[in-house]
Amino acid sequence: MSYTCPYKKILSLAFVALSISLGMVEARSRGPKERKHLNFSKLHVDQLCFPENFYFGFAIAEQQNSGAENLPDSQWSRWEKTNFPNGKPHIRDNQRSGKACDHWNLYKKDIALMKDDFQANAFRFSLAWDRIEPQEGQFSEEALQHYSDEVDALLDAGIAPMITLHHFAHPIWFEDKGSFEKEENIVYFVRFAKKVFEKLGDRVPFWCTINEPTIFVFQGYLAFNCVFPPGKADGIFGSFPLATKVLRNLLQAHTEVYQALKAMPHGNTAQIGLVHQYLSFHPWGVITPIESFMQWCLNEFMIDSVINFLKTGTFRYKWRCFFEETYHAPIDKASSKPAAQQISDFVGLNYYSRVLIELKYTHLITLRFSTMLGSSPNHGETMTDMEYAIYPEGIYKALHHMSTIGLPIYITENGIADHNNAHDERRVRWIKEYLKAVSLAFEDGVDVRGFFYWTLMDNFEWDRGFHSTFGLYSNDLATQTRTLKEGGKIYRDIIQAYRAGGHRLATADAH
Ligand code: FCB
Repeated sequence: MSYTCPYKKILSLAFVALSISLGMVEARSRGPKERKHLNFSKLHVDQLCFPENFYFGFAIAEQQNSGAENLPDSQWSRWEKTNFPNGKPHIRDNQRSGKACDHWNLYKKDIALMKDDFQANAFRFSLAWDRIEPQEGQFSEEALQHYSDEVDALLDAGIAPMITLHHFAHPIWFEDKGSFEKEENIVYFVRFAKKVFEKLGDRVPFWCTINEPTIFVFQGYLAFNCVFPPGKADGIFGSFPLATKVLRNLLQAHTEVYQALKAMPHGNTAQIGLVHQYLSFHPWGVITPIESFMQWCLNEFMIDSVINFLKTGTFRYKWRCFFEETYHAPIDKASSKPAAQQISDFVGLNYYSRVLIELKYTHLITLRFSTMLGSSPNHGETMTDMEYAIYPEGIYKALHHMSTIGLPIYITENGIADHNNAHDERRVRWIKEYLKAVSLAFEDGVDVRGFFYWTLMDNFEWDRGFHSTFGLYSNDLATQTRTLKEGGKIYRDIIQAYRAGGHRLATADAH
């Protein structure tokens, strides 16, 4: 994961010149006013404020919770069995997901936990497209019925289902056709979305089209971090034009699914949105023009490209004479609805932390990320197992920035990887501080309507296998026994205090 270049001086000058000529970031339109000082010390659960009818729930992904044995036809199930060209396994320690938490067969048990232990009222889960359409054009009635039963079980428990149509995994046949690298493949995703909406649209209030387009692209196509399928690295930054094209196509796919489902029965009442991970990059230490430029490039691609698209309906990413990708969503300019409301009903915010970047000036220039710098303390902050810090200020800032889109926000993922089940203090602290940050943003006037903790129980964390444990329950893979952690108890206390009215604030009072 390192970027090296022998022509240090030439590159520095070129970067500075480019940063000037590109004109940096578009001026940010105004949202509610941000506070200057945030204080997270000595928090008590009843000091938090959330709007009325706030959703408290959990997020999972089918691939991570049901594993390759339940989902043999997804590209991820194939990926976990294969190696990189250098022989290194795709998954850390060559682990296999097996049935993971076997959510496919044990979903009733999981729903009972959410209801009885938490009084949760929302659950975000993804559908296995590969199980519903294992061969191109052949839909499995059994798989569709499975999800219909799961939706009914959730509704019976008083839990609102939020479905994600694409959460990193898709059928092998779709992967082998070139997946989202080709604009002409979008029709397959739209057809799948319509099929499931036909079956479930009468009962499911929330729909996420695509999970984290920028992360899908970053992990699967950018040369310096290619740990997801299809793992298309082609030299230093060589896959950047393809990555940009995939991002463009994902945004088009979102729009086409949104508009197709809106036109179907129940489309008007369903809330349909895109999920964006707000992953920001900051210089590690001394800031030079090169660091500033790298920071700007990364944030422009990973954050602003999607926020600007959701605001305006236009995706445009251009690298001067090198390449350009543009997509204009069909927006009715004569409509009284702003562009944002013509392509999404809400926006899902996934927030974890920030990444620090550093350029090492030796005989070569090396770009390093904080994720590569080991778990040493990072500016005195407490680190998580994922080698980034606990950073609640970040979710506060992200909420303010995302609020400029002008759509309601659901926090569709937020959670911490911490392997130390016996001493779960970091998770306890994370949950209190991040929820405090959410509560402060709400008090400022940000329209945030729900929080989905990532994740219900320890599951298969993509390329990291079972090593990164985000769950509120630990899970014994042999017996499928779920055990509540201390972090789970604090989340439960917050939800219960909210239900008891201890820290509810009516929207009208807060704004
Ligand atoms: C997000 C993914 C989710 C999980 C968490 C830790 O980027 O959407 O599936 O991997 O990170």
